[in-house]
Amino acid sequence: MINSYQYFIETTVPSDELIVSRTDLNGYITYANDIFSNISGYTPGELVGKPHSIVRHPDMPHLVFKKMWETILLGGIWRGYIKNMRKDGGFYWVYAEVSGVYKDDKLVEFKSLRSPIDESKKREFQNTYDELRKSEEGSCRIVTNISIENYEKLKKISNEENISEDKILEYILSDSLF
Ligand SMILES: Cc1cc2nc3c(=O)[nH]c(=O)nc-3n(C[C@H](O)[C@H](O)[C@H](O)COP(=O)(O)O)c2cc1C
Repeated sequence: MINSYQYFIETTVPSDELIVSRTDLNGYITYANDIFSNISGYTPGELVGKPHSIVRHPDMPHLVFKKMWETILLGGIWRGYIKNMRKDGGFYWVYAEVSGVYKDDKLVEFKSLRSPIDESKKREFQNTYDELRKSEEGSCRIVTNISIENYEKLKKISNEENISEDKILEYILSDSLF
């Protein structure tokens, strides 16, 4: 099971590197370059054949991908900022350009080029996406410290019941108990 502290480990995309991927028309990965594999922590073999949402981070609002798909299906280029999740639960931010690939005027696949972004953009978009998810899902991110004793209890229940620590906290605070 991935521990929550791993969610906070960032991998930075080197400034001279470009992450490249291609997908079929349903968003299943057909090609991943070595940089994509290195940054995401998946081997190319683990990426190819999987939906691109394999790197979807829970901090990303649905609206962003809805807009992306609308744009590329209409023949446009979608440009935007994405926080992706690594295989080990860590994250990386990218600026992405996603668009269709055409052969004889027919849409045959999609491609995406992604490059690094600076710290201020990461902060700006983390805030924007946090706000969007509040309105989309009614959920927000909290980061806090609890006593080791309580944390041990939480881990024990999580392991015994096979329920994530987040879900247990949500349940304890829900209307059903208080
Ligand atoms: C070429 C291409 C590249 C994409 N790149 C990403 C990406 O880097 N991260 C991501 O979460 N979704 C990416 N998507 C969008 C996913 O297909 C998917 O819509 C998104 O992850 C939301 O998944 P969900 O609706 O299953 O939650 C990409 C789609 C295409 C066509």
